[in-house]
Amino acid sequence: MITPQSHSRIAAAAALLKEGGVVAFPTETVYGLGADISNLSAVRRIFEIKKRPTNHPLIVHLAGLSGLSRWAHEVPEQAWQLADNFWPGPLTLVLQRSHHVPEGVTGGQDTVGLRVPDHPVALALLNVLGPEKALVAPSANRFGRISPTTAAHVREELGEAVDMVLDGGPCRVGLESTIVGFDGETVIILRPGGIPLPALAEVLKDRVIVSGQEKHAVRVPGALRSHYAPETPLELWPSELLSHRTLELGAKGLRVAVIAWSDQQMDHAENKNIVHFSLPAEPVGYGRLLYGTLRRFDHERFDHLLVEAPPDEPGWMAIADRLQRASCAAQHDE
Ligand code: TXA
Ligand code: MG
Repeated sequence: MITPQSHSRIAAAAALLKEGGVVAFPTETVYGLGADISNLSAVRRIFEIKKRPTNHPLIVHLAGLSGLSRWAHEVPEQAWQLADNFWPGPLTLVLQRSHHVPEGVTGGQDTVGLRVPDHPVALALLNVLGPEKALVAPSANRFGRISPTTAAHVREELGEAVDMVLDGGPCRVGLESTIVGFDGETVIILRPGGIPLPALAEVLKDRVIVSGQEKHAVRVPGALRSHYAPETPLELWPSELLSHRTLELGAKGLRVAVIAWSDQQMDHAENKNIVHFSLPAEPVGYGRLLYGTLRRFDHERFDHLLVEAPPDEPGWMAIADRLQRASCAAQHDE
């Protein structure tokens, strides 16, 4: 719900954006770091603030479906169908960019990622800016780190570097959008995310969905092996080995946080260095809480985060992907 107070904050944010400011705003997935697409110095500031290489493209956020034909061209039928079904929502479509999209936004690529966020504050902000405008926004974290799912996380990540943080409460989805590209009749998942694979498959029916990052030489930082990472080394363990590994580290006197979803019992009540935390055993609730949980335990300066590997099921794909990358980063650091 939008209160009169948030109305005036949104108006102030829109004014800042029109003057070339950089404003963090809530979406249903994670908080974004927004700039007016047509203001190149503001777009450049986003890369600087995030410390993100300039050849990594930004997602363009639109107020509604009609923006598709303004910002993209040669839009395939499947893209219209997906937009129809999932917008506003956590789905980004990578399409041929139109001449309205400046090169600096797409890292020099001839495609553009577009989405309509499903959050009242983001939509209100886009509507105040008007139909000719769009907001480029990466997740509002430093490059490679965990995306923020509350306004407090954004402040903690970026501090005074941003001109304003619009607070829209905790993000409902908690994981970034699903990104898809198109290759003829084929829809390619470039990054699993907020729209679960089974929901996409249901709409696309017999059309093939391929998860094929290797095949497509696009630059997707979310597709780097190590990304979405806490600073504390994170290990991912199958349910049946989790307890053993916990006790092994605990016996060395290390401080360990165990993040689990199943209700298996662990016999470490005696060891004060071991903290056990449960996340929901279904992917929607788990996804919503994951980043905040990793962030919290990262702050508490444990020696290790041990995470129970998620179930090997399509609905858990985005969670498995993020945890895999978070654990890769830990391996690299060692
Ligand atoms: O849920 C989300 O998608 C959030 C919210 C703020 O909308 N945004 C987000 O942005 O996660 P970012 O920049 O952190 O990740 C966007 C991903 C990057 O991996 C980027 O490379 C990819 O989208 N991307 C953007 N445009 C692309 C394009 N034209 N081709 C391939 N990948 C693209
Ligand atoms: Mg990001």
